Amino acid sequence: MNGLGLHQRLERNAGLLIFGILFVSAIGGLVQVLPSIFQESLSQPAANTRPYGALELVGRDIYIREGCGTCHSQQVRPLLAEVKRYGPYSRAGESVYDRPFLWGSKRTGPDLHRIGGRYTDTWHRVHLLDPRSVVNNSIMPAYPWLAERAANADGDIQLRLKVLRRLGHPYTDADIESAPAKLEGLTEIDAVIAYLQQLGAGLGAEQ
Ligand code: HEC
Repeated sequence: MNGLGLHQRLERNAGLLIFGILFVSAIGGLVQVLPSIFQESLSQPAANTRPYGALELVGRDIYIREGCGTCHSQQVRPLLAEVKRYGPYSRAGESVYDRPFLWGSKRTGPDLHRIGGRYTDTWHRVHLLDPRSVVNNSIMPAYPWLAERAANADGDIQLRLKVLRRLGHPYTDADIESAPAKLEGLTEIDAVIAYLQQLGAGLGAEQ
């Protein structure tokens, strides 16, 4: 090995080479991971971001179950065209209570991260039951069964809240206690609408 440069020595020793590769790629990993640990804005809730209420949480689970996220993203990118079309771009702190997050990237339909408050509850109800009745030529499927199934059909809302509390969502005993009552008499479509109407509400005051 005498007379060989460091580089040649590295190339001829598989163990050393593997260690070298791992070491160099670990630097890349650290550069990505460390800021997300130390930068508060990425891990702390944005100013108005709060955990989902019982009805909104059920709505969110239905949104996932029905695959709404396969056509709709929930992520406004910090680009002029996006901000002009959808509203303020999405902040990391707005997603701290999203498990899993629903950012997505596939947009068969429009982004929904700022949809809250843009339409009335009635518009959403009519649109979900029959999209073509409000938007000519819409290719969105109709979801008539949402109006037929009770919001608490699974009867496990308290369990869902307890699991999220264990993961760090600040639900109180009273929140969990009163959850079934909040779903009483409502259907899945009410839950989805409640979920849609609060999207974007977590935008901090400073934004
Ligand atoms: C096959 C793709 C597809 C799926 C699945 C889908 N959508 Fe859509 N959605 C669209 C398209 C396309 C539009 C635009 C036309 C329209 O408004 O109907 C749209 C529009 C919307 C709008 C109005 C957006 C706006 O800015 O005007 C809402 C709200 C919405 N969808 C919610 C949902 C929900 C909730 C679900 C699941 C229950 C869902 N979508 C499932 C394709 C889809």
